[in-house]
Amino acid sequence: MAITTDFLVIGSGVAGLTFALEAAEHGEVVIITKRSRDESNTKYAQGGIAAVFAPDDSFEAHVADTLEAGAGLCHDVVVEICAREGPERVRELIARGAQFDHDNGRVSLGREGGHSARRIVHAADATGMEIERALLEQARKSPNIRFAEHHTAIDLIMLSRFGGPDVCAGAYVLDETGAALDPGAPRPPAPRDPERPATRHRPASRPHIVETYLARATVLATGGAGKVYLYTTNPDVATGDGVAMAYRAGAEIANMEFYQFHPTCLFHPEAKSFLVSEALRGEGAILRLPDGTAFMASHDPRKDLAPRDIVARAIDFEMKRTGSDYVLLDITHRPASFVREHFPTIHAQCLRYGIDITSQPIPVVPAAHYMCGGITTDLYGRTTIPGLWAIGECTCTGLHGANRLASNSLLEGLVFGHRAAARLSAQIGDLRKSPFPAVPEWQVGNAVASDEEVVVAHNWDELRRTMWNYVGIVRSDARLRRAARRIALLQEEIRDYYWKHLVTRDLLELRNIATVAELIVGCASARHESRGLHSTIDYPETSDRYGSDTVVKRGVLPYLRGR
Ligand code: FAD
Ligand code: SIN
Repeated sequence: MAITTDFLVIGSGVAGLTFALEAAEHGEVVIITKRSRDESNTKYAQGGIAAVFAPDDSFEAHVADTLEAGAGLCHDVVVEICAREGPERVRELIARGAQFDHDNGRVSLGREGGHSARRIVHAADATGMEIERALLEQARKSPNIRFAEHHTAIDLIMLSRFGGPDVCAGAYVLDETGAALDPGAPRPPAPRDPERPATRHRPASRPHIVETYLARATVLATGGAGKVYLYTTNPDVATGDGVAMAYRAGAEIANMEFYQFHPTCLFHPEAKSFLVSEALRGEGAILRLPDGTAFMASHDPRKDLAPRDIVARAIDFEMKRTGSDYVLLDITHRPASFVREHFPTIHAQCLRYGIDITSQPIPVVPAAHYMCGGITTDLYGRTTIPGLWAIGECTCTGLHGANRLASNSLLEGLVFGHRAAARLSAQIGDLRKSPFPAVPEWQVGNAVASDEEVVVAHNWDELRRTMWNYVGIVRSDARLRRAARRIALLQEEIRDYYWKHLVTRDLLELRNIATVAELIVGCASARHESRGLHSTIDYPETSDRYGSDTVVKRGVLPYLRGR
């Protein structure tokens, strides 16, 4: 039996929850989420939300800073919308119970790289945790919101329409809460085209734990894909599922070459993915070589507060030049009490690894952090597929261009979560006039339980290493070709494995991350210039010929679209 709802939201980070809370005032919402409901990139956000509150700041300045970071590819209208609507969305978040730092009754504002003013609304250095807490608390109180935790969306359900484009009607979802009772999930027999989302299957012949969710509107809010790289600041859920599902369903994807590397991830053998916030540099922290030399002045006049792409490249350059495995981030010149008060999480986490940041510099390295590209949407989160909407990090709205300005992503999740909810809520009455379609359930086919999980693990490792080694901060044509060859081979193996075995979350994520890798390499190979986060030794200059988005779709190779 299919589960039906007005709004199916896939993902419970800032974008999905913002959407859900507003949409729930107009209809039923089901939120599917891969692990526990708070697990997301949002939860780990440290610095904060960029929004204009300071008397000496202006919308024009926020727009100008965003455009400057975006290196010519931001969409002006989207930047304008986010800058102007940001403060209102932050006030709503506060009204929903989020507690941000205040100074004398005014919201206290931090500073980060690329910002010309203090503009970062924060809750010490654990802003994302506070946002998740507040939004989940509100969601818990809403009678119209149901959560399905430990549920992984596998593929979108696409219906053919006579004389029109295919329509999204919902998603097939792996229910891991039942996985303990069953070694694997049923899956469909191989359709004619294995990369096409499954839509026509025989009726299920045995109990199954892949559920069919049907919705009036399906909203992807699946976040980023940091796990495509060997080293990342992202948690394990960040496997680009939304982008991969949308791509398989035929949606347009853009700008995947622009993967942002955060300059300062903690370098320690036991630390996994721990970010050291840019807010430290906002409060005066200095990047140094292991011998103590400060080096940013020789890379950019803005020194340690240059935009992130410049700082990450500078660190990469210095590490290669000196043969060092890391650089140092030094805030020891600020009073210990100030550091402890402003950065309690970072202070405590580093102490766990034997580093007292009030008296010792922190060893750091760049790591994959943020996906600037994604599913293209209009100004209300609508994708190119009818019935499918997308919000947050999985999208390419045009806000970030070739490089995201720090703390603009929580902002984007709030702004587009709200805009999509407002637009869809106004349409829900009309959408309800059509009955839910009859959709075949997911089928096992001939698939058997995997007896070689180690193959999946090896493929994961190889893929992430390939991306790290050949598609990292600095690229070249030869490296991209090498990566493309290896990824194509891995794709073949993964596809074969996928169609023969019962699905598990691990396998689904591997399949998605391989698609994301292919899209990143494809888009990067189409851009013969260096711009923002895409830097290649073969085309070191920025070229006017490439001053537009890279667009890709299933069956269409990546191309540069004029604007
Ligand atoms: P997420 O918050 O990542 O949520 C995605 C959700 O989708 C998760 O619940 C996940 O489980 C679920 N999901 C994914 N795939 C599936 C599937 N197949 N089925 C079901 N569920 C699925 N940005 C800022 O603006 N300011 C900051 O200070 C900042 N600091 C950061 C620090 C760190 C360490 C990291 C990793 C990121 C930071 N960012 C920051 C970026 C920002 O946190 C993210 O871009 C933003 O939170 C993304 O929100 P989202 O709602 O789009 O996705
Ligand atoms: C940070 O706190 O440095 C992360 C900010 C961001 O990614 O926007």
